[in-house]
Amino acid sequence: MGLKRLLREVLGDDVRYVPSSFDIVGSRSGAIAILEFPPETPERVKRIVAEALMKLHKNVRLVLAKKSGRRGVYRLREYEVIAGEGGTEVLHKEHGVLLKVDPTRVYFSPREATERLRVASQVRPGEFVMVMFAGVGPYALMIAKKQPEVKRVIAIEINPDAYRYMVENIRLNKAEGKVVPVLGDVRYEAPRWYGMCDRVVMPLPKGAHEFLDQAFQCLKPEGGVIHFYHWAPEEELYCEAYYLLEREARLRRAHIRVLDARVVSEYAPRVYKVCVDVLVRPADP
Ligand SMILES: C[S@@+](CC[C@H](N)C(=O)[O-])C[C@H]1O[C@@H](n2cnc3c(N)ncnc32)[C@H](O)[C@@H]1O
Repeated sequence: MGLKRLLREVLGDDVRYVPSSFDIVGSRSGAIAILEFPPETPERVKRIVAEALMKLHKNVRLVLAKKSGRRGVYRLREYEVIAGEGGTEVLHKEHGVLLKVDPTRVYFSPREATERLRVASQVRPGEFVMVMFAGVGPYALMIAKKQPEVKRVIAIEINPDAYRYMVENIRLNKAEGKVVPVLGDVRYEAPRWYGMCDRVVMPLPKGAHEFLDQAFQCLKPEGGVIHFYHWAPEEELYCEAYYLLEREARLRRAHIRVLDARVVSEYAPRVYKVCVDVLVRPADP
């Protein structure tokens, strides 16, 4: 039964504050629930919701409420504890990949598991892949899991906490040697792999376009695939993403062919995170 239905009687009119969805990060052995309440929600209601949620999901030992939007280069937000106890570090499992993560110190969204699986499923044996903006390693590790014959996955992350978790997650998933973690700014680290990649994944909707020059230059001379993430309003879902990709291709004397374009998630009302997959080839001389 959903939370709203469960609490309708207890909360009466206040049931309008109960979020219709929430995230659970963690596993059977311990998880954190993350909720977003309307700003005017009374503290009493938050507590009742959190306690009901912990009864419904016995593995949830801590309930957090979002206190801000995502901010800064690391894409973090503030949280308040509304029920439960214990630390904020948990072990999460998605499609067989183990991810140790502290959602208060690093970016992590369990909602994007299907998208990661979609990208990982396209990787072919022998590919050399770069994951920019790698976080705690969910894309890189999903790729290594789903395509064990991948040659290498370079995973670049700027947040030292996320990098530390990524290193641990590589060990947990026995992906040492396959996934290469790199701590630093894509702008300065990516040039080490110019001309070497078959595929570049760019999961930073806020600002990936500023790194398209790096992505194009990392591809092999014969080209490759770019998975480009971007935010877009409902009325023009892919226009800007296509324009940015086309513009970079022209600058690099390359052709692009759109392989796929899809909505990944809703970021804000009527604003979506989209992904455009393109095949890049050198333009004919
Ligand atoms: C939207 S999160 C995605 C993280 C991860 N790929 C995932 O799916 O969970 C973007 C990540 O990029 C990192 N980041 C932002 N700017 C960066 C840069 N210039 N170089 C490397 N990493 C960067 C942030 O710290 C954050 O962890």
